[in-house]
Order: sequence, then structure tokens, then C-alpha cells
Amino acid sequence: MESFVYYNPTRILFGRGMTSKLGAYIPAKARVLVLYGGGSVMKNGAYTAAKAALGKRKSVDFGGIEPNPEYETCMKAIELMKKQKLDFILAIGGGSVIDAAKFIAAGFFMKSPWNILEKGAKIQKALPIACVLTLSATGSESNINSVISRRKRTMKLAFASEKVYPVVSVLDPAFQATLPLRQTINGIVDSFVHVLEQYLTYPVNSPLQDGFAEAILNTLKLEAPKILKRPNDADARANIMLSSTLALNGLIACGVPQDWSTHAIGHELTAIYGIDHAQSLAIVAPKLLEVECAYKRNKIVQMGKNVFGVCTKDKRLAAKETIAKLKKFFVDVGIKVELSDYGIDKKQAAKAVSENLVRIKHLPLGEHRDIDAKKVEKILLK
Ligand code: NZQ
Ligand code: ZN
Repeated sequence: MESFVYYNPTRILFGRGMTSKLGAYIPAKARVLVLYGGGSVMKNGAYTAAKAALGKRKSVDFGGIEPNPEYETCMKAIELMKKQKLDFILAIGGGSVIDAAKFIAAGFFMKSPWNILEKGAKIQKALPIACVLTLSATGSESNINSVISRRKRTMKLAFASEKVYPVVSVLDPAFQATLPLRQTINGIVDSFVHVLEQYLTYPVNSPLQDGFAEAILNTLKLEAPKILKRPNDADARANIMLSSTLALNGLIACGVPQDWSTHAIGHELTAIYGIDHAQSLAIVAPKLLEVECAYKRNKIVQMGKNVFGVCTKDKRLAAKETIAKLKKFFVDVGIKVELSDYGIDKKQAAKAVSENLVRIKHLPLGEHRDIDAKKVEKILLK
């Protein structure tokens, strides 16, 4: 096992009705920016519950955070916070709203917030954030990451800082009853691929971390068909919600190598073609595993055995079978796995994505740093 530092200070309030406890963790004198997206929070009860939890505190609303949150919109929110002298952010929504909250929280103190994304400027401090999560997918509710898009420049860039860990996050599965099927599917697939990026590298004798990873994958696999059949299945929602948070809160990454290349390539597909984050991952992940199989074979075979029930002795065949089963899992939950399914030409995409990754200086990728522009093209041409 490799050495690591683990720190996760986000307090989780999990379960039905838990928003009522949120007020205890927000300073009585906080002046709060209430941040949300396109309005779904008005229909699922999250906005009403969160506002009630604020009680008499001063609060100002800012709606309209886009899926794949836009830099320009975040800048408007920073301006509003300064004008209204606000000092706390309550994010109500999915990963996009929470990611926007993180960028606003850090950008508030920076002369040029864009430098956080483009130049990796160090974040010295950030405003405190509380979250009411309405879509389980990204793990943003208790992690250090944020992904912000700047559409005019065809850019989707991430940053990470411990300063933007939410102070407290409410995880109430009931708010997810209103999710469109597409978003429920996206959430399952995104969470699944988060685990793959931390688990499918090479063995470092980490049976505990591998066991955590496999338990999350197996739970998602078990609960996905239930929630797709019965979107109001509260137990299945709760199990998926917890799996999704644990998939990317730092825990399963402790002491093991990581490979975020599926995400890096996927982010470019979203930036260029506008497909959903999880849709991009379902296309890239199986292709990347095929191309990188020589490096990842032992772990792919392990996943085959412990998650997909593959018993084939020959390692090459077992790995192939496992990748086919992963693809089938994606197809079965209802997500597409080919660029052509979205009317995207793979030759054009391979070129555009690799060029963009070169432009933003994001290469090489992979746990062995072996994925260069040529290999990115090879993956997308599969
Ligand atoms: O905008 P509203 O009206 O809220 O509607 C949203 C949005 O249209 C809707 N929605 C959310 N909760 C709902 C609901 N509709 C009905 N009922 C509910 N309960 O769902 C749509 C998508 O929401 P969004 O927040 O964009 O989805 P998601 O949580 O998948 O977040 C995606 C963003 O997170 C980034 C992605 O790149 C993308 O920008 N990621 C962030 C990560 C992180 N911070 O750690 C890691 C991820 O890998 C990912 O990159
Ligand atoms: Zn993701």
C-alpha cells in the first residue's frame, strides 16, 4: 500500500427529513447566498426545506446555475455576494450547483478567479459552504473537487482544494424522487466510473480498499435495476445515494494508485459536444480499458471475478469478458456506449479531443503517464 494523507471534514446529515437539522451547523449570523440551478429544487421540496432551516438569517437567492456550471454565471454570483455582503453559501442541487458553490467560495477572495482553473492558482481561503444534495452522482457534496465550464473557449476545467470541502451536506433520498430517468441513470454511471478510476490500475496489496471499491460497485449493480423499475423505491435510492458519496469522498483512494483519464477525456467530449458528463464516461471507460488492458489486466480480472462473476481461467479472455460485461451493464441501465449513438463522428472526435487536451496541457494521462495524444485518439477510434 502507498502512503497517504486522509482528511474529510464534511458533516453528513443522512436520511429523510434531515434538512431540519441543518440550521444547527450554519452560524446564526451568517448572511447566506442560496444557490440553485434551473428550478428543480422548487418541485422536489429541497428549496422549501432548506429555506426553513435558515430561519431568520439574511438570505439572497441566486438561481440559474447550469448543468456543467458556467464560469460567467459563477462570476455574477460572486458579484452579488460582494454587493450584498454575504459570507456563506447554501448550495441546493446536484454536482453542478455544488461545484459552482465551490468556485464562488474560492473565487470570492481572488483577484482573478479564472486563474484557479487555468493556472492552478493556490486557494488560500474560501467561504463556508453547506449543501442540500438533490442528485447523487459526483460526490461533490463531500469532496475537494469542482469542475467549471467556459463555453466560449470550449473549456471544461477542474480544480481541487481542501478549502472548499463543504462544512455540512444533507443527503435526503426523498429529494430525488423527482429526478428524470436520464439523471438517475447518469448518477449511477458516474458513481460507478468514479470507483473504476480509483480501483482499476495495478495491484498494490490493498485488500481493504479493493473490498470497499467492490462493495460500492456491487451495491450500484444490485440497486440500479430496482430504482429503474421503481423510481420511488426509498431503500434503493438511499443505498445508491450513500454509494455515490463514498465513491468519491477520498476514502477508496487512500493508499492506491489512481487513473482519472476516462474523466479527462470525457470532460473534453462534454466541452466539445455538450453530452452529459456520465454519457461521456460510458463511452470512454470500456474503450480505455481495452486499450490499456496490458497495464490493468490483473485488476480488470479481479473486478470480473468479484463484481461480474467472471470465472474464466485465462487472464486475457477473462479481461475481455469483463470489459464486455461492463459495457452490457451500462447498456442495461440505459446509457449509450458509442459516439455514433449521439451522432458524433469518431474520427472527428478523436482529433478534436486530443487537440483540446494538448491545448489545456492535460497530457499525458493514466497511472503510468502513458496516454498521450496518439493514445487518446486510439481510445476514441475503438
Ligand atoms: O438545474 P436543475 O433545475 O436543478 O436541474 C438539474 C439538472 O438539469 C437536474 N436535477 C438535479 N436534481 C434534481 C433534478 N431534476 C429533478 N429532480 C431533482 N431532484 O439534473 C440536471 C443535472 O444536474 P447536474 O447538477 O448538472 O448533474 P450532476 O450532479 O451529474 O453534476 C454534473 C457536473 O458535475 C461535474 C461534472 O463534470 C458536471 O459538470 N463533476 C463534478 C465532480 C466533483 N465535484 O467531484 C466529479 C465528477 O466526476 C464530475 O466531473
Ligand atoms: Zn464523474
